[in-house]
Amino acid sequence: MIEFMKSIAKQAGAIALAGQLELQKKRIHTKGNARDLVTDTDRAVEEFICSRIREEYPQYGIFGEETGKSDSSSEYCFIIDPIDGTASFVHNLPNWCVSIGLHKNGEPIVAVVYQPSMNDLYYAEKGKGAYLNGTKLHVSACDTLVESIVGTGFFCLRAGWKEENNLKYVSRIAPLVCDLRKYGSAALDACLVARGSLDAWWELCLAPYDIAAGVLILTEAGGRITDLHGGTEFPQKGIMGSNGALHSTLLKFFEDHQDLHS
Ligand code: IPD
Ligand code: CA
Ligand code: CA
Repeated sequence: MIEFMKSIAKQAGAIALAGQLELQKKRIHTKGNARDLVTDTDRAVEEFICSRIREEYPQYGIFGEETGKSDSSSEYCFIIDPIDGTASFVHNLPNWCVSIGLHKNGEPIVAVVYQPSMNDLYYAEKGKGAYLNGTKLHVSACDTLVESIVGTGFFCLRAGWKEENNLKYVSRIAPLVCDLRKYGSAALDACLVARGSLDAWWELCLAPYDIAAGVLILTEAGGRITDLHGGTEFPQKGIMGSNGALHSTLLKFFEDHQDLHS
């Protein structure tokens, strides 16, 4: 299974890169609002991944960002974000990836994230560790805010969240950490925590396909994932992924957080 998923993620990345070279304005569309972008390439990549899954695992369920949920009673479900970081993809920035997670009864068991611009392939199987291009990953050991580099994202603003949005938490956390980063791909944020480049990352308003693969890669690298109240209802109640050492310290900044995302 892992070899199949690694192979289709790399092929999907090649399709995306080819599509990026031909990207024209007429092929860029919006979804829920003017800032939520989708391109013909997002759709072509998802169609490729789904067609390969249907060939090899026809009985398994599929949940893709662009095509929704298939009708399946299987305990297995592939969860696909064909391009995570479409805004970066459209603007020729490097931080986008193909993300494919396999869940069994709702729990992640295999995950791949491929970043074509770096030729970086992250992958994990439950209980077997997480890897980047064959090298085992481990989260950082940083345990003080002042030394930490922390990532976040702002889909909540694109979704129109007004008072209760991420700006409040950024203004609390930014003055206390070494620095913040905003890469525009939740899947890559999780992988960057897994490899120890970020010490933590949080976001308020994500969908299951944004994090289906990243959560397994991060936890298999020794990290911790919770919602913003320290529970397991992510991403509905926000998400925090960290090296573990900084987790409870960071959660304290969210004690008054109200969940708006259903
Ligand atoms: C987006 C990325 C981004 C996050 C947004 C997502 P998309 O995914 O994961 O990091 O801030 O919330 O929607 O739309 O590029 O697949
Ligand atoms: Ca996404
Ligand atoms: Ca996407």
